[in-house]
Amino acid sequence: MSRVLNIKVFRFHPEKDQRPYYDTFQVVEREFMSVLEALLEIQHEQDGSLAFRYACRGAVCGSCAMSVNGLVGLADRVQTRNLKANILVEPLSHLPVVKDLIVDMTFFWQHFQEIKPWLIPAETAPERERLMNPADTEKIESFASCILCGSCYTACPVTKRDRDFLGPALLAKIYRFLADPRDSRDAAFLAKLNSEQGVWGCDTIFNCVKVCPKQIRPTDAIVAARKLVVGRFFKLFGANRKREKAE
Ligand code: FES
Repeated sequence: MSRVLNIKVFRFHPEKDQRPYYDTFQVVEREFMSVLEALLEIQHEQDGSLAFRYACRGAVCGSCAMSVNGLVGLADRVQTRNLKANILVEPLSHLPVVKDLIVDMTFFWQHFQEIKPWLIPAETAPERERLMNPADTEKIESFASCILCGSCYTACPVTKRDRDFLGPALLAKIYRFLADPRDSRDAAFLAKLNSEQGVWGCDTIFNCVKVCPKQIRPTDAIVAARKLVVGRFFKLFGANRKREKAE
């Protein structure tokens, strides 16, 4: 027999509401129902004003990141059959709420633009594609598959206390390019990364690893990026010393 789910949802419309509140909706559970499907059913059949983001419904776009029973993740990935009948759905924490389950991720996207998450090659483009060897590809493959859902960003205690900290997703994205032999980030970029807002800000408590819906390990990328940054600074320092001696 189908269960009736009691879905308690965070509600807040800053333009109209003085403070946040919760609404509870009853939904009859279907086979293989995700939390996102339950929310869509509420929106279509009970309350069209309920606001949340989604697009692909297949754990690809990262839009439906939210908190379910206190755990951050993708609502389209969380199956109701794995939960008790009382389900609590809330927006990602420590980001301003735009409406209900929609948060303002401006900080995240501003930092995203700052890090220039694309290949910056040393030479001009060859006639054919720039190939990588399989061993180098393997090093960065998992970090390249980050969907930027922001789950790790909001699970991270450092992003909560320091808005300038780039956060786990973006540091993993940076490592993806630092470890790419075709990329040539300059010294100014490395200097920015070599800071508390960059690779040294991480508390290394692995919250990001726990919540990533794509099983990526951003902390590993941060630790590897620290080694790369230090290594490249020593190289630069050594080259400068050599040049000074020769002059
Ligand atoms: S809707 Fe695209 S990841 Fe959930």
